Amino acid sequence: MPQASIGIIGGSGLYKMDALKDIEEVQVQTPFGSPSDALILGTLEGTRVAFLARHGRNHALLPSELPFRANIYAMKQLGVEYLISASAVGSLKAEAKPLDMVVPDQFIDRTKNRISTFFGEGIVAHITFGDPICQNLAAVLTDAIASLNLPEVTLHRSGTYVCMEGPAFSTKAESNLYRSWGATVIGMTNLPEAKLAREAEIAYATLALVTDYDCWHPDHDSVTVEMVIGNLLRNAVNAQKVIQETVRRLSENPPPSEAHSALKYAILTQLDKAP
Ligand code: ADE
Repeated sequence: MPQASIGIIGGSGLYKMDALKDIEEVQVQTPFGSPSDALILGTLEGTRVAFLARHGRNHALLPSELPFRANIYAMKQLGVEYLISASAVGSLKAEAKPLDMVVPDQFIDRTKNRISTFFGEGIVAHITFGDPICQNLAAVLTDAIASLNLPEVTLHRSGTYVCMEGPAFSTKAESNLYRSWGATVIGMTNLPEAKLAREAEIAYATLALVTDYDCWHPDHDSVTVEMVIGNLLRNAVNAQKVIQETVRRLSENPPPSEAHSALKYAILTQLDKAP
């Protein structure tokens, strides 16, 4: 199996990374089935990275249909230690406007139909998840964004990401409820990834790319797919620049991460006494 120390998951509108060199397409098989698509291994800033299009390169998978466990397991099999997840999100705050970038530090789970653990079936474990994002990886990501001085883009260094089930977007009552909770952005995919990455002892951070104001803002139309993809495509070059700069900084100076030892005290089952 080829190796890559940094993984990148690209969401809606970010189906490939143009800057990758020496590309190798790898079909990874896992105990949880196939990932969303082949993983694309390539060299970026002198480092081997693994890229995965979250919904498949032809966008054939709904958020509820994503093989989250296979995706994270495949990254682990390739040796990934740091995972950057780029995702389109709606904004729940006036100050986070379309094209802005948010690096969330918290999540609220509003999913209903996701398998978000590798455990069960005889192995009981509970990971610590008070800080669901690796703060050291997030710091590298935010510093990378800030260093690029991207025109039109305001960086928000923290925020709470509501992860909803979808596929329908929220109602206005829901959107306003999340606003009353103080949440910053809303999306449909990142929380299961963050939980599974932590269980796999992979440091995880989200690059949230704001595409719309969901449906709460009196001066803006309610979110549509056209709006999401249009704004994401407008920001795709910026997102790739950010990822490239983050990879450069990570490979020069890989930070320690508590995620890398997340299972140390998490497993309750006495594995040596298993029947
Ligand atoms: N992804 C992009 N915009 C979104 C929104 N408003 N709600 C949920 N997911 C999104």
